Amino acid sequence: MTTVEQASANRGARAEKLAIEGGPKAVSASPQERWKTIRLRDLVPIAKHVRWGLITDPSGQGPVRNFEESFAALVGTRHALAMNSGTAALHSALFAVGVGPGDEVILPSYTWHATASAVLCCGANPVFCEIDPRTLTADPADIARRITGRTKAILIVHVWGNPCRMDAIKQIADEHGLALIEDCSHAHGAVYQGRAIGSWGDIGCFSLQGGKAVSAGEGGVAVCSKPEYIDRMVALGQPVRSSTMIGSEKFDLAGVNLGPKYRAHLFGLLWAGRSLARLEELNRRRRRNWNILCDSLAGCEEVYAPETLLGAIRGGFLEFKLVVDLPAAQFDMDEMVKALKAEGAPFTSDRYGQLHRRSQFQKGGPLTLDLLRSTRDSSRPEISLPETESLQGRILTLPAYIDVEESALRQCAYALRKVVGHFATRRTNKTTS
Ligand SMILES: Cc1ncc(COP(=O)(O)O)c(C=O)c1O
Repeated sequence: MTTVEQASANRGARAEKLAIEGGPKAVSASPQERWKTIRLRDLVPIAKHVRWGLITDPSGQGPVRNFEESFAALVGTRHALAMNSGTAALHSALFAVGVGPGDEVILPSYTWHATASAVLCCGANPVFCEIDPRTLTADPADIARRITGRTKAILIVHVWGNPCRMDAIKQIADEHGLALIEDCSHAHGAVYQGRAIGSWGDIGCFSLQGGKAVSAGEGGVAVCSKPEYIDRMVALGQPVRSSTMIGSEKFDLAGVNLGPKYRAHLFGLLWAGRSLARLEELNRRRRRNWNILCDSLAGCEEVYAPETLLGAIRGGFLEFKLVVDLPAAQFDMDEMVKALKAEGAPFTSDRYGQLHRRSQFQKGGPLTLDLLRSTRDSSRPEISLPETESLQGRILTLPAYIDVEESALRQCAYALRKVVGHFATRRTNKTTS
């Protein structure tokens, strides 16, 4: 879009009456996802295993091994270990790098709660850091500010498939001798500076749950290149797999692991292998649709698309996110979503809260996860994260479209331009009256 076209789109959108107030709907095309995630032919390998009477493989051979090798090849690491959830992968990874009771792990507050819960599972303390509001990913300068003598690891999240500033974060981790774990649960197939996401840190963790770009229904996988990390993750949560240990430590567990059982389901991995095989094509389609959406919003001053860093390629996505660039205090997100729905645009509000404010991660709540910790840290100060907090109630969501009519995407963008334009004008009128 040229600047002239952008200005005229803004003017046109603002001049139209909102659909919620009886005006014309902005979206006439169908914004339905047309891609069929579940194909019957993907069930064939599972059916075959059922016929052979093979419903689990605790040894980690056969399809489990095939999946792990394919996943490691995707990320470019030497090893991968499949698990039954992304949370299991995160817990195993933190355990493998030596995070234990009383340690601190720095992670962003803007993420799914499992990123932080995994830290508590190790008896350690999550220390929440800021995100950069332009990218929604962890801010390296703020990570550095939060390092103390007790910090053991940095745990970053490539949220919504957007790669973090990994060169800067890795440098900080290396300079301070800290472990670096990547939560890549949204970012299958993402790349930063020519290197796959998941291969920058000591261990990369991916959820394979539900709607993830590689989906086992429920599942997870951790990738790394150090054999010792694989062995420790096996020791923690993979009973009867000690024969697959590859490092020099060779824990002698005689089939007895350390407690949790994180074995992946054979059928889930057979299923996940199908989306893994199509990942490149599906990511190409998601990126194309993301670019169409961003391009259609160019010049709209009240909305921005989180920036992709130079040298970064998004992957996975999980959801498309847009930030309303109006102070949250001056509009109501529920009202905005209602107005957008009336236009025919299926926007929803963001489902991520702010973990640093959740009672589960604070001292003394009725069900505080402090209960899981062997050392209780009563000295943890209440923290405020102004940048993260400023985004609360300002983020909008669309599905991470694979196959949708291009006109529907453009019309959704137009609907947003129209609705935010009206909200901004009302705000201006209110403040000047
Ligand atoms: C950022 C992030 N980390 C971790 C997880 C946990 O993955 P799982 O649900 O597979 O345990 C999720 C799940 O959606 C996630 O979004």
